[in-house]
Amino acid sequence: MKKALVLGGETGLLGQALTRALQADGWTVHTLGRRDGNLLDRDFLQGALAGHAPHIIFNAVAWTAVDDAEDRTEDALLLNRALPSMLAQTLKTLGSGHLMHYSTDFVFSGEGTRLWTEDDTPQPRTAYGRTKLEGEQAILGILPDRACILRTAWLFGPGRKNFVSTILGACRQRDAIRVVHDQVGSPTYTADLAQWSVALAQSGATGIWHAANGGQASWCDLACEAVSLAAAPCRVIPIDSADWPQKAQRPAFSALDTRKLATFLGKPPRPWPQALREYLFSENMLLPSDNGGRS
Ligand SMILES: NC(=O)c1ccc[n+]([C@@H]2O[C@H](COP(=O)([O-])OP(=O)(O)OC[C@H]3O[C@@H](n4cnc5c(N)ncnc54)[C@H](OP(=O)(O)O)[C@@H]3O)[C@@H](O)[C@H]2O)c1
Repeated sequence: MKKALVLGGETGLLGQALTRALQADGWTVHTLGRRDGNLLDRDFLQGALAGHAPHIIFNAVAWTAVDDAEDRTEDALLLNRALPSMLAQTLKTLGSGHLMHYSTDFVFSGEGTRLWTEDDTPQPRTAYGRTKLEGEQAILGILPDRACILRTAWLFGPGRKNFVSTILGACRQRDAIRVVHDQVGSPTYTADLAQWSVALAQSGATGIWHAANGGQASWCDLACEAVSLAAAPCRVIPIDSADWPQKAQRPAFSALDTRKLATFLGKPPRPWPQALREYLFSENMLLPSDNGGRS
């Protein structure tokens, strides 16, 4: 029986999708989160890994509060660098187990308009991006032969608040919302990312992979598409980042090049609008006359 351990598998946006995808694929899945103990306690972590003895460990735990990371960088480092490092070290000591870890498009500067490849040099401009990059480097330094880093972006999916659910929630309260149009990235459906992750894990993939749905969008494009699919009676007004001040300065262009993943899958990841439609359909948020592209 294939055994997986998903850190964050009970509560995380991606963690929950991973748990579902693995169970659907016939894996025995255990989850590990703060309710089970202190993940940052080395003895607890070692005991959990040795006890479950999983073939694959998916680490979907992270400090994901991008703005808060600017002031609480030490706390962000604990989750985004120390935890991945401890995981890799523990698996090295145990001598078994493959590690699937997640990182972010925010490792890139955001300059230019060329899709970012796995070979491009990261140059994070936020504390969050820096802590995530240090996590990647720690893992690849300790466990290069048994670790895979999936850089993903702009996640939406069921089970936890995300940009799309926030936008549609706001549209229920207001007749107009203002959304930034000058930051462009790669919207990604957690269910798709989970499936690619399972496939990569099964093949024993190592190194860095960019994993995102096809196409690119601004936050405003993503909001417009969600509002339109849900037929929400709400106007989406494009605004400049300068008119939406945030503590951490997001990359202007962080869309990911996914050709490496496409070659592995034998087809390109499906376009984000198609994935968005499926998400809204699964949540009963789609315009009633639209069947989500299903027959
Ligand atoms: N969301 C995005 O748009 C995005 C974009 C690019 C990359 N990523 C990466 O994708 C991965 C998954 O992100 P996500 O959006 O699924 O994250 P998320 O929904 O914010 O979930 C984070 C998980 O980490 C857990 N966690 C946080 N602090 C913890 C602590 N001190 N002890 C134990 N558990 C703790 C949370 O548990 P609780 O529920 O108990 O708090 C939750 O299960 C991360 O590596 C992230 O950097 C995400």
